[in-house]
Amino acid sequence: MTNAPLASDLPILLDAAKIEARIAEMAAAISRDYQGRTPHLVGVLKGAWVFMADLVRHISIHCTVDFLSIQSYGSGTVSSGEVKITKDLDVSIEGRDVLVVEDILDTGRTFSYLQEVLGAHDPASLKLAALLDKHSRRILPVEADYVGFEIPDVFVVGYGLDFDQKYRNLADVRYIPSPQTLFLFDKQTQADPS
Ligand code: IMP
Ligand code: MG
Repeated sequence: MTNAPLASDLPILLDAAKIEARIAEMAAAISRDYQGRTPHLVGVLKGAWVFMADLVRHISIHCTVDFLSIQSYGSGTVSSGEVKITKDLDVSIEGRDVLVVEDILDTGRTFSYLQEVLGAHDPASLKLAALLDKHSRRILPVEADYVGFEIPDVFVVGYGLDFDQKYRNLADVRYIPSPQTLFLFDKQTQADPS
């Protein structure tokens, strides 16, 4: 935990201006696609909260929001596929146009699980907006309907994303280049909420 490098030592993958411009485009597409409806945005805590806050402020149609929290078990960067909801939705999604908002789509296990669990509550539609997509890491055949950036297989932090619960507050998305640090991550974050 004490070995976590300073944010300023980590290289930037996507800077704040680039992120903001792309989110405005995503919000415009969402506003267009859901015209005449009121999408219900479901943010996956904690990673998606910063993205969600910026995304909704660029959406020009009515929308409502809710959050759920997920815990995935596994050894750090490799999830075991076991996922459970630790904070459930506050309001029913039956008949709603649900748009799940995720920080990053990686193996696809989280969204695949959410598709099953949320789908069982009969939403009118169920889609996914992910700020980042590590497409090369996909294990399950899920795709996001709205993707901010496709990124390479590097461990990213900032803009809501964490390493050992740190760096969520960074305005840019940065990456952790050293394999040693990833090893520490594997040791330290077992069973941490994503
Ligand atoms: P998936 O279930 O493998 O698609 O994993 C998605 C979750 O894993 C994300 O919501 C993140 O919480 C976490 N995750 C995956 N890659 C990264 C990363 O590079 N940095 C931080 N968290 C990550
Ligand atoms: Mg997450």
